[in-house]
Amino acid sequence: MAPEITEDNVTVELGEAFYNQHMRIDREITIASLAAFNETIDRIESYVDSFAATGIRGLRAASKLGISATLNDIDPDVSGLIGRNIVSNGLQSHCEAANENANMLLHRRRFDAVDLDPFGSPAPYLAAASHSVRKMLLVTATDTAPLCGAHLKSGIRKYACVPMNNEYHAEIGVRVLLGSIARALAVVDGATIPLLAYARRHYVRVYVRVLKRVSSADDSMKKLGFIVHCPQCSFRRLVAGLAPLMSGECPLCGSMMQAAGPLWLGHLHDYAFCESVLSELNEQGSDKHAIKLVEMCRDEIDAPTFYDYHRICHTIGISPMRIDLAVDKLRNSGFEVSRTHFSGTAFKTDADIRAITRVLSDEV
Ligand SMILES: C[S@@+](CC[C@H](N)C(=O)[O-])C[C@H]1O[C@@H](n2cnc3c(N)ncnc32)[C@H](O)[C@@H]1O
Ligand SMILES: [Zn+2]
Repeated sequence: MAPEITEDNVTVELGEAFYNQHMRIDREITIASLAAFNETIDRIESYVDSFAATGIRGLRAASKLGISATLNDIDPDVSGLIGRNIVSNGLQSHCEAANENANMLLHRRRFDAVDLDPFGSPAPYLAAASHSVRKMLLVTATDTAPLCGAHLKSGIRKYACVPMNNEYHAEIGVRVLLGSIARALAVVDGATIPLLAYARRHYVRVYVRVLKRVSSADDSMKKLGFIVHCPQCSFRRLVAGLAPLMSGECPLCGSMMQAAGPLWLGHLHDYAFCESVLSELNEQGSDKHAIKLVEMCRDEIDAPTFYDYHRICHTIGISPMRIDLAVDKLRNSGFEVSRTHFSGTAFKTDADIRAITRVLSDEV
């Protein structure tokens, strides 16, 4: 018998199509996000998985939520397999298979929710997706080396942005992608309103509400700017705008600072949306890793970088205690602080590096 896989109440034949077990978490969160959007923001009537492979994502959306789903793949054999998977799940009334280059399909047709899940970078498809989408954009990027600054030139070419490879490069990657989405949507007078955004394993995934309204698109553009970082002492500063003045020297240690951007400086998650996704995930009896990830995102404070606790301890010359205790210490000193999904040894805070050093080295 041909190999099959079952997720939720959908079973697909795998054939020669791509299927990644590790990305099941994203499929769980995708279905929960579509449901949460439907419940709390606006009705999603049509959804396209523009890079569908087996079709499992769209089949699950159709089966669970009754959404009309288009499952597209450029490979004719894979698209044929999608067609068979639609029939074997009895979802002909809700699903259609398509066989086009995603860019052609998305320039030709409009959908309430557009999902981009390509191999590598979504950058070549953002213009077409922005044209097609009415309400919600879901994007995966597996090109973390360009996004996070490890492949600098490739990142600059793909995202027209200078990334930065430092201790919070994973968050830089999410913000570079969101910045690029905001610019692509703004071209068609669309606003970017992030609902949930995370980096995990070797990829970034973002869920964005789209509003096609000029004044809101203008507001989104105001969320773009630069992160200026001192590689010597870890001081950082945010500079909003696309043509800002940025001084070169660190005000703390006098070293030359480095700038990353233009990238997204606004919020990454919508608290109420995350709550709603969590109740959907709990209702689905979802994977506990998916639930934990969304909980961590929900609980993050809105601060556009994070600090690596071990690195700070090394610089101060103290041995690390449990990170929860360090977080409590900062909170008890009056700062906003949270753990972060980006790293188990990091925290986000509104304290700057000088204050963090003072509090953690007990100089308070
Ligand atoms: C990462 S897989 C998609 C996985 C799928 N969304 C899931 O949840 O299992 C990428 C798929 O995109 C298809 N593909 C590659 N380039 C494409 C293009 N330009 N337009 C449409 N499909 C494309 C590939 O054939 C492959 O099946
Ligand atoms: Zn410095």
